[in-house]
Amino acid sequence: MVTRINPSILAADFANLEREFGRIGTADLAHVDVMDNHFVPNLTLGLPIVERLLQVSPIPLDLHLMIDDPDRWAPAYAEAGAFSVTFHAEAAADAVGLARRLRSIGARAGLALKPGTPVEPYLDLLVEFDQVLVMTVEPGFGGQSFMPATMPKLTLLAERVRASGLDVWLQVDGGITEDTIVQAAQAGANTFVAGSSVFNGDPAERINALRAAAEA
Ligand code: DX5
Ligand code: ZN
Repeated sequence: MVTRINPSILAADFANLEREFGRIGTADLAHVDVMDNHFVPNLTLGLPIVERLLQVSPIPLDLHLMIDDPDRWAPAYAEAGAFSVTFHAEAAADAVGLARRLRSIGARAGLALKPGTPVEPYLDLLVEFDQVLVMTVEPGFGGQSFMPATMPKLTLLAERVRASGLDVWLQVDGGITEDTIVQAAQAGANTFVAGSSVFNGDPAERINALRAAAEA
């Protein structure tokens, strides 16, 4: 199994992001949380800063858009050069159309689901996406506790991905630690976003420990 560890820079030092990227060079992707203070009650950063981060990051960027109207805003992140652009199912007017547009620009298209959003309506649409992000906390803030009640969604997704033969990455985000990553991996996740558990310590060591726990 391929395991991907994506540190979330939400937990990094926002005054020294270039230096922080230097500390996560052994990770697979850097997860960047875009929040608009409408879709979630928090505000982080937007396109001008992402464009600059793309220039200094040693690893590709995994964009997580927690914004209203992704149909309008998400393609610009793909055009800027993001490796993957994940938008929320709850916010998109035309999730399939948007995913097709992101792919046509050259980015991987990701669909994110809040903890209360059922996955069933999307199981027949997996061919349209490169990754599905099962939120394991309510989006908006780092440092929250992992919600085990979200694991059945991953099990369903993993079964469907296996049966279909598609290569859709299954991502979890929120409260991922050396303990909770084991549950998420057992449920079928292969791509793990971790903010506080990476940056509240030595990031290189934390990335290794998370990877080892997921693969154990
Ligand atoms: C929360 C963000 C997460 C956040 C995770 O809405 O999407 O990416 O950074 O932070 P931790 O790992 O601290 O729960
Ligand atoms: Zn995120």
